[in-house]
Amino acid sequence: MGLAEASATLPDVLQVGGVSVALGGRKILDDVSFTIGAGEFTGLIGPNGAGKTTLLRVILGLQRATAGTVAVLGQPRSRRNPSIGYVPQKVLLDSDLPMRARDLVALGMDGHRFGMPLPSRQRSEAVREMLHAVDADRFADARVGNLSGGEQQRVLIAHALISRPRLLLLDEPLANLDLRSGQEIISLLARIATSQHVAVLLSAHEMNPLLPVMDRVVYLAAGRAASGPADQVIQADVLSKLYGHHVDVLHVHGRVLVVAGTEDGEGADLTADHALEAG
Ligand SMILES: Nc1ncnc2c1ncn2[C@@H]1O[C@H](COP(=O)(O)OP(=O)(O)OP(=O)(O)O)[C@@H](O)[C@H]1O
Ligand SMILES: [Mg+2]
Repeated sequence: MGLAEASATLPDVLQVGGVSVALGGRKILDDVSFTIGAGEFTGLIGPNGAGKTTLLRVILGLQRATAGTVAVLGQPRSRRNPSIGYVPQKVLLDSDLPMRARDLVALGMDGHRFGMPLPSRQRSEAVREMLHAVDADRFADARVGNLSGGEQQRVLIAHALISRPRLLLLDEPLANLDLRSGQEIISLLARIATSQHVAVLLSAHEMNPLLPVMDRVVYLAAGRAASGPADQVIQADVLSKLYGHHVDVLHVHGRVLVVAGTEDGEGADLTADHALEAG
């Protein structure tokens, strides 16, 4: 069997099929389907409240779907699947927390169990390597609560990667980071996706910083999804159908803006919708 044939028979890392979720009597996700191949970098893009976190929680098995299926590496996903690493949206690391960056990364090795015995030499070597992979050597011994947002993000990524998952889910890892730190995290993740052959699914409400590295986009709006290569999905006709009303896609100074039109045709409303990628 040639290389091409071999990879053609590999299962997708993630298959989401017809997933719907209702919460509090409201439909949050509506028939969401997409797949992610090995080592692919996928942006999960959508405005606040679109259902990004809910979808990631369904993939993790933390949120029950009312319909649909999720398969990880061709298998129905199970809770605490070691093939999936996760960096949640809000992680509060208190400055009093007596934990160094390297301790937090080590915790990722044992499925987040606390109170494990001291790491063996092999474990600490793996932790050291992972901290190096995310450019965190410099603050490996600092208290995590004292690190900046961008530094904490690196440590949390190392924590999620140390168990060698095939799929890494990150929920808005760029929120609260300045442009430069955000770009550093993105290129770090793109590098890791390639070198460690990890598929990355990263949620964000601002797509522009991701355009250079995204293989595919899953665009969520009103609980529905459109997926594919960014140049095919970020189109006025595709997104208008998704939003259920007319939106324009503008290309301005190398940036893509999704602009919600108003019902009465009085021109674009630049503030009504996230869409409006700023910054
Ligand atoms: N437990 C719940 N009960 C009822 N509604 C919920 C629950 N959890 C989330 N929701 C609603 O589901 C919708 C989607 O929420 P979700 O957190 O998935 O959005 P999001 O795309 O991650 O938004 P953000 O960009 O602000 O993080 C929101 O309207 C939210 O209020
Ligand atoms: Mg969210």
